[in-house]
Amino acid sequence: MTTITTTRQNGKRKGKPDLGFATKAIHAGQRPDPTTGAISLPIYQTTTYAQEAVGVNKGFTYSRTGNPTVSALEENLAVLEKGVGAACFSSGLSAITALFSLLSNGDHAIIGNVVYGGTPRLADNIFSRFGIKFSYVDTADVDAVKSEIKGNTKLILIETPANPTLKLSDIQALSEIKGEVKLVVDNTFYTPAIQIPIDLGADIVIHSTTKYIEGHNTTIGGAIVTKSKKDLEDLKYIQNAAGSIAAPFNSWLTIRGLKTLDLRMKKHSENALAIAEYLESHPKVSKVLYPGLSSFPQAALARKQHHSVHGGMLSFELKGGVKAGLKFASSLSLISLAENLGAVETMVTHPATMTHAAMSRKSRLAAGITDGLIRVSVGLEDVDDVISDLDQAIKKATT
Ligand SMILES: Cc1ncc(COP(=O)(O)O)c(C=O)c1O
Repeated sequence: MTTITTTRQNGKRKGKPDLGFATKAIHAGQRPDPTTGAISLPIYQTTTYAQEAVGVNKGFTYSRTGNPTVSALEENLAVLEKGVGAACFSSGLSAITALFSLLSNGDHAIIGNVVYGGTPRLADNIFSRFGIKFSYVDTADVDAVKSEIKGNTKLILIETPANPTLKLSDIQALSEIKGEVKLVVDNTFYTPAIQIPIDLGADIVIHSTTKYIEGHNTTIGGAIVTKSKKDLEDLKYIQNAAGSIAAPFNSWLTIRGLKTLDLRMKKHSENALAIAEYLESHPKVSKVLYPGLSSFPQAALARKQHHSVHGGMLSFELKGGVKAGLKFASSLSLISLAENLGAVETMVTHPATMTHAAMSRKSRLAAGITDGLIRVSVGLEDVDDVISDLDQAIKKATT
């Protein structure tokens, strides 16, 4: 399939230094429309493409197989994540479905024990019915992962940071012990603006583009970027055969979101650090988890693995546990209580009753997801306004 990339725009310029991240986020895979000069890539809202003769076409035949707007998004993400190419899907979960579709009956996959709840639901309730085995391991513990690798293990899927505990896994250390097993990183929380897993030895990167990549709470989408051409070919085959390609309009909105990714991730991180520091000094707060705090248990790994900032996600617990947590969540005014994360609006979640309600209490507690834990996806508002909303809700919840 052809892409609509030019050498000038794909970030690799012959004999010249690589373009900066913000430049690539704006230009990679993009060019002015050749017919009109429109600087914003058109939404190719078409099902099919007229062919000049049998077998003669401009690289596109049917939009389940390929669409110029979707291809432009794929090219952009491939450049940002430093892969050979990308495949974009209708949701993050359809991207993970495509990933698991690389496996066959009898294969085994290792998944982090604290990942987005939809991932084990898909593995245990659907793919395990086809004879694929899954085991769940604390991927922050490299030796535990190493000892779980068996002859039939084909992939290791990790999230770093984990949701909502923010626990980090060392991508480089895992890449050194994985042998032939593919290391897959779900990079939804940090995006390539903060960490580039392929640079650290990962084979495949997954995104729910629904979150920071699109960034504005307006689309559901997913993507996979690969280091190897063979994995890309296999995933493109699955994208077409399973019919799970992203839609052109959603891809266009996602391309628009990507143009400000670098700025947004810096501001999300700046706001999150200020809020984490405010919460840490609050007498009614018993615990704050944010990788940018020097009190964070893996602060050294955070500094090694991240590009100088540590993202917009943090978790905290109020003195008063679950009762105070629930009262806090319903006392907010500017901030929304919502399932999603990674957008311009600040949102909070109570994982025990919302995003992680499907887990048993025992496994939740074992994974560090305590009953009173509150997750905050810090947005791009003026941080003082967010802090004053948090402040009034904490007061209401703890007095
Ligand atoms: C880390 C992570 N991966 C994947 C998904 C699934 O993505 P989607 O909701 O776009 O299907 C989510 C959703 O919350 C997520 O948080």
